[in-house]
Amino acid sequence: MRDGINEVIATIAMNAAPIGIISRAGTLQAALFLTSHTAALVERDRRLVANLTHDPVLYVQTAFSDLAPGAFTQFTVDGVDMCRLADAEAWTAFSVEVVRKTGATLLVHLIPIAEEICDMQVYPVNRGFSSVIEATVHATRYCVNRDPWLKQLIDHHSAIVRRCGGPRELEAMTLLADEINRCLSKS
Ligand SMILES: Cc1cc2nc3c(=O)[nH]c(=O)nc-3n(C[C@H](O)[C@H](O)[C@H](O)COP(=O)(O)O)c2cc1C
Repeated sequence: MRDGINEVIATIAMNAAPIGIISRAGTLQAALFLTSHTAALVERDRRLVANLTHDPVLYVQTAFSDLAPGAFTQFTVDGVDMCRLADAEAWTAFSVEVVRKTGATLLVHLIPIAEEICDMQVYPVNRGFSSVIEATVHATRYCVNRDPWLKQLIDHHSAIVRRCGGPRELEAMTLLADEINRCLSKS
């Protein structure tokens, strides 16, 4: 993890979701919405795995739905079974201490217990990839509060993806548009 907020895909017990791991002054923390499965599972198991990937589609898929069991690989750390993404480029397993629970979030401290780099490719900076991440963050909130400003931000990032993204970024944005339409059609 590098200083600042690391946008990773957290896996616990075959549940996957993007979260931010906050690295400041040598400590690693995450703030998890209590409405998420991730928060409930972290509170129960006190473990999680942070998966690093450059696949934009995985961020959209895991933000809005579940992955098939084949997307996960199980492994054991200190006799405890854990799950990571089979296609992770790198991963870190953490033991978790709850710092505090507020009305809406669970703040946790993360202690690394195992890690692996699986793939050593380098990636040029691509604004399309960054905009998929931005649009997906906004979309997770837009689906809850329907704030028109968030829709404008999503549209802005969609335009950047169309200009700067590759096929995988375009596929991610098509999937995101489908997920937003699915949310909007619910009520
Ligand atoms: C890039 C990105 C970062 C996110 N960071 C967080 C976070 O730090 N904490 C959180 O609770 N949700 C975060 N979210 C939203 C969750 O991924 C989203 O609410 C998801 O549906 C939770 O899935 P779950 O119910 O399977 O845990 C983030 C989403 C994205 C796209």
